[in-house]
Parts: sequence; structure tokens; C-alpha cells
Amino acid sequence: MLSLSVTFNKLSQAYPWIASPLIVLAPMRGIAGPTLAVAVSQAGGLGFIAFTGKNSGLEDLETASQLLRGAKEQDDNSLSGISIGGLLPVGLGFLLWADDLSDAVETVEKYRPCAVWLFAPRGGQEELDQWTLGIRAASPKTQVWIQFGTIGEATAAAGSTSPPDVVVIQGTEAGGHGRAHDGIGTITLLPEAADALRSSGIPIIAAGGIADGRGVVAALSLGASGVAMGTRFLAASEARVSKGYQREIVRVADGAKSTTRTTLYNRLRGTVGWPEEFSPRMVKNRSWGDSQAGVPFDELKRLYDEAGKTGDAGWGPEGRLATYAGAVVGLVHEVEDGKVIVKSVREEAKSITEALSTSF
Ligand SMILES: Cc1cc2nc3c(=O)[nH]c(=O)nc-3n(C[C@H](O)[C@H](O)[C@H](O)COP(=O)(O)O)c2cc1C
Repeated sequence: MLSLSVTFNKLSQAYPWIASPLIVLAPMRGIAGPTLAVAVSQAGGLGFIAFTGKNSGLEDLETASQLLRGAKEQDDNSLSGISIGGLLPVGLGFLLWADDLSDAVETVEKYRPCAVWLFAPRGGQEELDQWTLGIRAASPKTQVWIQFGTIGEATAAAGSTSPPDVVVIQGTEAGGHGRAHDGIGTITLLPEAADALRSSGIPIIAAGGIADGRGVVAALSLGASGVAMGTRFLAASEARVSKGYQREIVRVADGAKSTTRTTLYNRLRGTVGWPEEFSPRMVKNRSWGDSQAGVPFDELKRLYDEAGKTGDAGWGPEGRLATYAGAVVGLVHEVEDGKVIVKSVREEAKSITEALSTSF
């Protein structure tokens, strides 16, 4: 295992405001916006805004920089280490199959986020190289993070001519899109990735199935230098989700039974174009149940569209609307501010580590 202090030091040189252990807000399209990302960074984590196209992306980055400027003017102590070298202390996440590289370059050049997070290329490593080079040319100090769900892809990236600064390793427990057919759990994937990437010196961030301090300590002991959470932040007060969706995240338990990977809801919503090696993890509800019972797709679609008109009532056990979430959803019990989530997960991880160090 690479020494945790060495890899954390590497990260804290690039992101001087971060506290150990590093908690990252994963970019979640349509959900992780500037208010949540800024709150996470202000709490000593690293918040990623999910890019949603050129116009809204530019608007989100402008909002993030205004929020950070405002906090600075009020002499907010939590920002004392922030805005290093002219970089914004938030990241920006792209879905490569859906986003346009020239839009990405324009946004990164204008706002200089401290990091970009790349995921789901259609064209494999070649496309990742193009994006990495494009981003680095536009903003040389912006670090490139890439999320992978298999060892082969991660080692190909580490050995490429433009290796990433950080690799995110995503286990199949993860909410949202991940490997459709060849995913494995974080506890198995992560140590093998750590072994495979050791000689590269690239820090690893663990994603998938981590929602509290216990998960953080486990991930660090398996070779990660920090963790990224998505599902836990669905229950952040600043998340851009409707109340019905958020209530469902807090209510649902037993993720092995209550969630599944399926493209059904993408089809019902009209989300098309994902490369076929990816599918999303979702909370099951009536759309899923009816599809398993053989109800034809056209009828499911009609009922889905009807449910969409009922607002928050469209989610829940009797609801039909898409509820993207990870298998760890059963560990998410209440809606809290992003800062509270980051600080409490970090503190829990620290006290577990202390307790462990006196038990052996
Ligand atoms: C609702 C939702 C939306 C997501 N959207 C994105 C996205 O737009 N881009 C991305 O790289 N990952 C996305 N992810 C996956 C995260 O990057 C991350 O791998 C995952 O949330 C980690 O697992 P967890 O949900 O168990 O914390 C999404 C996850 C969720 C739950």
C-alpha cells in the first residue's frame, strides 16, 4: 500500500484547504450544484459540480465563484486556505459520452476549477487522453480525476501518455451509473486497484457504498487516499432533488433488496445514449415491479408520465419515478446540510481509527 500520509500530502498540496480523511462530493448530474459543492469544500472536503451543458455549466461556476467571494468578504475562516493560485476550490464533473470537449475547455479556461472529474467515455482511453490534454492546455494547474469500475481501465490510464492526477475507483454498490455487467464490490476492487496502481504513485479515491465514518476507515485501509460519496449527499439540504425523491432516500433500507441496476428508468425518462457497458443503480418502485410482472413498456411509459404530473407523490413505494441511488441507501437516515455531513463523517472516521488503534 502507498503510505496514506504520502498520498494525502500529495492531495493537500493540490487542495490546501482539505482535511484528513478527504471526503469528496461526487458529481451528480442535475443534483450536485454550486451551493452543495461550495459547502463541501468549505467543510474541508472537495465538492464537484456536475456539468450540465455550456450555459448552465457557466452559470453554476459563476454562482460558485460568487458564493466563495461572498464568504471571503465576510472573513469566513473556513476559507482561509482557499483560492490558491487562482483556482476555484471546487471541481467540475463531465460525462464524456454526453458532453462536448470544446464546451468543457471553454468553461474550465474561464473559471479554472481545481479539478475535473471524467467519466464514461464512448471512445475508451483515446478519448480520455484527448480530454486530459484539452483540459490541461486550457488550465494547466487544474487536476484531472478519472472514475473507473475495472482494474484494466485504471491501469491503462495510469500507463498512458497523459495519466490522470487522481483515479476514482467505483464499486458496483455505487448509485447512478456504473459497470452494467462486470462490476464488483468496492471491498474487492479497491485493494487490487491499489496494488495495480502502486508504482504509478497516483492517489486513489474510493467510491461506491460509503456513507459514514465506518466506510471511510474501511476504504482507507484498503488503499484509498480519500472517499467520494454520492448517495449520502442526495440527502443534503443543498442537493438539487425534489422533496419526494429525498424522502425516499431517507426512507429506503436494505439496499440489496430495494435497489437494482436497470436501464428501465432511463428508457422511461427518455435518457438515451449511455454506452452499453454502463447502467444505473436505482431504487425499485412500481415501474420496476410492473415491468417484472410483464406490463408492456408503452403502458409503463404512460403511467410514468402520469406519475410525473403528481409532483412529490410520484416517488415512494407506490411511486413510479426514477430514484437513482446506491445500495448504501439504507445508511442514509436524515436530511442534513452538506457541511454537517462532511464534518460528521470525518469525525466518525477519526474516532473509529482511534478506537481501533487501542484495540490491537
Ligand atoms: C443520483 C446519482 C447521480 C450520479 N451522477 C453522476 C454523474 O453525473 N457523473 C459521475 O461521474 N458519476 C455520477 N454518479 C456516480 C458517482 O460518481 C459515484 O460513483 C457514486 O455516487 C458513489 O457511490 P455511492 O452512491 O454509493 O456513494 C451519480 C451517482 C448518483 C447516486
